[in-house]
This record gives sequence, C-alpha cells and structure tokens, in this order.
Amino acid sequence: MRGREPDSAIEARGVRKKYPSAAPEERSALDGFDLTVARGSVHGLLGPNGAGKTTAVRIMATLLDLDAGEARVAGYDVAREGRQVRRRIGLVGQYAAVDEELSGLQNLVMFGRLSRLSPRAARHRAEELLEQFGLAETGPKRISAYSGGMRRRLDLAAGLVVAPQILFVDEPTTGLDPAGRRDVWDAIRILVDGGTTVLLTTQYLEEADRFADRISMLAHGRVVADGTPAELKARVGSDWLEVLPRAEADIPRITKAVRRWASGDIRTVNGRVRVPVLDRTTSLLGAAAALQDAGIALDDLTVRTPTLDEVFIQLTGAAATDDTTPADDTQKVPA
Ligand SMILES: Nc1ncnc2c1ncn2[C@@H]1O[C@H](COP(=O)(O)OP(=O)(O)O)[C@@H](O)[C@H]1O
Ligand SMILES: [Mg+2]
Repeated sequence: MRGREPDSAIEARGVRKKYPSAAPEERSALDGFDLTVARGSVHGLLGPNGAGKTTAVRIMATLLDLDAGEARVAGYDVAREGRQVRRRIGLVGQYAAVDEELSGLQNLVMFGRLSRLSPRAARHRAEELLEQFGLAETGPKRISAYSGGMRRRLDLAAGLVVAPQILFVDEPTTGLDPAGRRDVWDAIRILVDGGTTVLLTTQYLEEADRFADRISMLAHGRVVADGTPAELKARVGSDWLEVLPRAEADIPRITKAVRRWASGDIRTVNGRVRVPVLDRTTSLLGAAAALQDAGIALDDLTVRTPTLDEVFIQLTGAAATDDTTPADDTQKVPA
C-alpha cells in the first residue's frame, strides 16, 4: 500500500455537482465548493437545508461522482482513487444501515464480519464499542427497542468497527433531544481523542461552536466563510453589554453612565441599550456598579457575544437554522 502523509485530511477545490434530475434553470447543488480540513481536527460544515452539505459529504465519501473540480481525501483523489479513499474513511449519519431486527451487539458483529474481521475479533470489537458508547447493557436488545440517542450512538459505533482515519458524520444529532445530542457528542469525542479526523455537518450552530475546531459555512453550494468559531464571530463585531431599563426615559442617563466602557458607538435596539465592549467581565462589573450608583432601575443587564447564527445571517441574509433555542453564551448579573 502506498503511504502518503498529506498535510490536509480533506482538500476540495472548485467542486461542482448538478443532479441529473434537476431542471436546467435550477442551481447546482455544489457550485465551486472549496474545503480544507486539517488532520486530526473536527471540522464543521454548516448550512441550512438544501445548502449542499450531504452532496459534499457523499462526493468526498465516493458515493457520488463530481461534475467538475477536484477532491482529495487522505491524499487520494476521490474520482480516480476511490478504493484508497474508501479504505480510510467511515461514514455515519443519514445512511446507517443497522438492522432493526437484530440486537446492537449482533449488528456490530455483522459489521465486523463485513470488514473481514474473524468471528472472535468481530465479537471482541463489538463488545469494546458497546462499552465505549455506553451501550453495554443495551447491547443484547433489539435495535427497535432503542431510544433515539441510543440508536444514533449505535450508528456511530457501527461506523467505527474498523476505526477510520477520517470520519464523515452527516447531521448526527438532528431530531435528538438534548440528552441524546450530548451522548452523540461524547461518542464523537472518543473518536477524536483517538486521532480520527471528523467532518461533521449540522444545522445546530451552537453545537458546531462548541465542538468544531474550524467551521465552513455553506450557502447555495458554496463556502461563504471559513475559520475558527472565534474568528467567524469576530467578523460580526465585538461583545456587547445589553442594558434593559425599567423605564425607557432612563436611556440617556444609562448611555452616559456606561460610556467609559464603550469600545464603539452605543446604540438602542428595541428599547435595549447596546454597548460594544472589549473586556466582558470588567465592563459588566463596572457598568453594573455605575448604573446602581446612578440609581437607575433595570430589568436586565447582560453581556452578549455574537453567535454563529448572526455571522451566517450577516453573510447570507438568511438564517442557517430554524432552531430557535438561543445559544447559552450569555453571562447575567441580576439587575
Ligand atoms: N438525489 C437528488 N436529486 C436531485 N436533487 C437533489 C438530490 N439530492 C439533493 N438534491 C438537491 O441538491 C441541493 C443540495 O441538497 P443537499 O446536499 O441534500 O443539501 P443539505 O444536505 O445541505 O440539506 C438541494 O437543492 C437538493 O434539493
Ligand atoms: Mg443533508
């Protein structure tokens, strides 16, 4: 086997794909898609429904041919060296092929056998994975009795019977409750700690924010922004204090009291005073004290950080997700 040690686990340049069934005037599913994923990293591919995430994953996993451009996975060209690519990747998400009638254990053993492990090795690996994914007790039960979170963890385990160098995970947490989502993330962590490179797609921006080293934002088949979560958020601007006065008439006094912490223009949005700040903690504590000294009654005082949703909206004019749960990234001081 030829050994190659590429700097990037995944490289895509100018990839285009239009489905044959698409109407001529319809846009391409991928329209000049570029991506670089560093080895050993978790890379998030974010975008709304229809942005092209699954198409990109399927092309990189050699399940779908590209029309133009180039993609290399683990250093191998997906179009010309598909076999080499397939040997090094795992794929979980919308394709998992677990058998509902079998138990979790039986499914994993079957996957091991399909990957040419001996019966003993397959059994050993299956038990190891069930243990790792917190499914040791559930293992002997039929899949049809599993909860959504357990099911998804088993899907992940099935993709890892032979630990891949690069794992594609397509919307692993869509439709799961918060506990199920946490379980899936714990499972992905185990892989990453073992050195696997993970490319994951998600519509939940706050998840990508927490777990991805870098993020590519996809809209209409093209990456519109790329960077660490912090870099992307810095594009929208700095953190800000948000002051909600009990009485709107106090807004001019508030503006005056907090001016010394402002790093830019103070604005009022929906009755809330927004003060851009450089240091979250110092400005929050200082402003709280100053407002109290001035005897101004508040309903709320918060430090806010730009969210990835705001980045996406600013770049594309559209929301990346219809998930309305606010990101849990605010620090509050009781007013
Ligand atoms: N099998 C297919 N045939 C025709 N069009 C498709 C097919 N799969 C996806 N598309 C279209 O390609 C675009 C990208 O879809 P997809 O890659 O599934 O996006 P995402 O995973 O981001 O939701 C969408 O406009 C979708 O309707
Ligand atoms: Mg998809």
